[in-house]
Amino acid sequence: MSITVNPDWWKTLFDEVYLMTDARSVCNEDITRLEVDVICELLPIRSQSKILDLCGGHGRHSLELCARGFSCCTLLDYSQVLIDYAKARAAECNLSIEAVQSDARSTGFPDESFDHVLIMGNSLGYIKGPADSQIMSEAFRLLRPGGWFLVDVTDKSAIKRDFNPEAWHEINDDTVVCRKREIKGDTIHAREMVLNKQKGLIRDQTYAIRLYGSQTLASLLEAAGFQQVTVRTGFSPHASKGNYGFMNNRMLATGRKM
Ligand SMILES: C[S@@+](CC[C@H](N)C(=O)[O-])C[C@H]1O[C@@H](n2cnc3c(N)ncnc32)[C@H](O)[C@@H]1O
Repeated sequence: MSITVNPDWWKTLFDEVYLMTDARSVCNEDITRLEVDVICELLPIRSQSKILDLCGGHGRHSLELCARGFSCCTLLDYSQVLIDYAKARAAECNLSIEAVQSDARSTGFPDESFDHVLIMGNSLGYIKGPADSQIMSEAFRLLRPGGWFLVDVTDKSAIKRDFNPEAWHEINDDTVVCRKREIKGDTIHAREMVLNKQKGLIRDQTYAIRLYGSQTLASLLEAAGFQQVTVRTGFSPHASKGNYGFMNNRMLATGRKM
């Protein structure tokens, strides 16, 4: 069976159900802390640095950075549900971040607004066509000269090596997530079904994600104008070898706007 995908899938998938289906990666505070440790190792962030967490979802990296004293964090995401969640969490934790709903291809922020731009947690490859190049160019435009960009995506070679066409895991005693996957060239097509004992089928959605290798990722940054581009492979925040989809075996690429 071939998995067909609505090209606008990414506009609706990232909601309350996503926070359950991907909770093992995106709602695990130890993992977020580890990822923020890596951000702080790779980038020369100072307490007053202006940091943009682009495609930042429910703000876990911005909130952790803010909790560590990096007090000028801006979160941008397309999902209003996740932006509202981030704002509520910030208020609950008495942390101050700016949270904006917008499209990363065209954010509306003025040129050179930030010292650092981050795209964490495999947030590229969702939109067909030149979207990822547009996002890179937007990140470049938003950085001040001398500023650093960091992008974190899953590693195509690891996904192809460990490819698993079917996977499932329990979210809790009542809910299970089942995923079917197909590889078509450099794109993974997936169907995700979430079943709950009381409510029945609470999600049945397909999605497609283009994968990057280290060379194609480096070329994407260079084409946007970044210099000193370095790609590090083998970043696996999950300690066990379980099936974490796109959230293990990641590559971290950095580049600088000169
Ligand atoms: C897998 S989630 C990762 C979120 C976050 N970076 C993290 O690590 O928790 C991908 C996020 O990218 C966002 N996204 C994808 N394309 C986008 C776009 N064109 N503009 C803004 N946000 C986008 C989605 O809404 C989603 O929240």
